[in-house]
Amino acid sequence: MTFLNQMKQKIDEMSLAFIDQLNLASSLKEAILYSYQAGGKRLRPLLLLSVLDAFGIDVNKGLNTATSLELVHTSSLIHDDLPCMDDDDYRRGKLTNHKVFGEATAVLAGDALLVNAYELIASDDCLTDNQKVKIMLELAKCSGANGMIGGQELDIENEGKSISLEQLIQIHEHKTGKLLEFALVAGGMIANADECQLTLLRESAHHIGLAFQIKDDILDVIGDEAIIGKKVHSDEKNNKSTYVNLLGLQEAKNTLQYHYDEALKRIQQVSGNTSVLEQLYQIIIDRNN
Ligand code: IPE
Ligand code: IPE
Ligand code: MG
Ligand code: MG
Ligand code: MG
Repeated sequence: MTFLNQMKQKIDEMSLAFIDQLNLASSLKEAILYSYQAGGKRLRPLLLLSVLDAFGIDVNKGLNTATSLELVHTSSLIHDDLPCMDDDDYRRGKLTNHKVFGEATAVLAGDALLVNAYELIASDDCLTDNQKVKIMLELAKCSGANGMIGGQELDIENEGKSISLEQLIQIHEHKTGKLLEFALVAGGMIANADECQLTLLRESAHHIGLAFQIKDDILDVIGDEAIIGKKVHSDEKNNKSTYVNLLGLQEAKNTLQYHYDEALKRIQQVSGNTSVLEQLYQIIIDRNN
């Protein structure tokens, strides 16, 4: 089994054990498991663990934090698909959460994932209290009103409006970039990276975050539904501004390449052996799902 597959398996084992004890309301647990087990790529937790690998740190030290990030990400997807948001019927190759469990349970499943994620970090025996506080602060900032959630609000507010490239960058770097920033920076924090290395990780995340969402925008236009596991042309349906409709397909591809190159340049300056991290960056831009 490849190193990435081994890490993916560890993330899934930890997540499932954690979700298994969220058993006050069985319907809620079932809804959480439904979306969680639907086969996401787990790119965010893998990025976090790859930073530890680059620093030569045992990846098990980052497992709780990496898993907590995937819980927050899954929460964002459940909410993103709601009728009041992007109103999508398919995700990760299955009907969306609200289509199966109803809107109320989907909202609560997303809420629970967002909040219980902090439990995993707070109860981590591998980290010092100081590291835990810093990491939880970073997760709150990256997920909250100045992070992913704020970006989602801007995305919704700007539906149907003609916006500038600067505004689009601001939306993308928040709704998508901020959770990727957490992946890289939290990895650095667990590895006790110095300020200069943390800055490089943050800058690299900024670029790979934009590259990630540009790729998502491109796949929404030219992707294969059976492979991406969600309906194509969702952005057009919701009158979203994207890199593709602002710049055209070819320029969107050029911009994707530019941000990938910038992201790569910075992680190569960070430390030791970044080969797994580089492999993941390549997957992010080459993926067809
Ligand atoms: C989709 O993220 C949502 C975006 C931020 C673009 P992913 O493409 O990582 O989705 P999963 O987790 O693999 O389903
Ligand atoms: C979603 O962006 C970003 C978050 C879920 C935070 P999109 O709305 O483009 O993601 P998909 O295409 O539905 O996965
Ligand atoms: Mg959306
Ligand atoms: Mg969406
Ligand atoms: Mg999209």
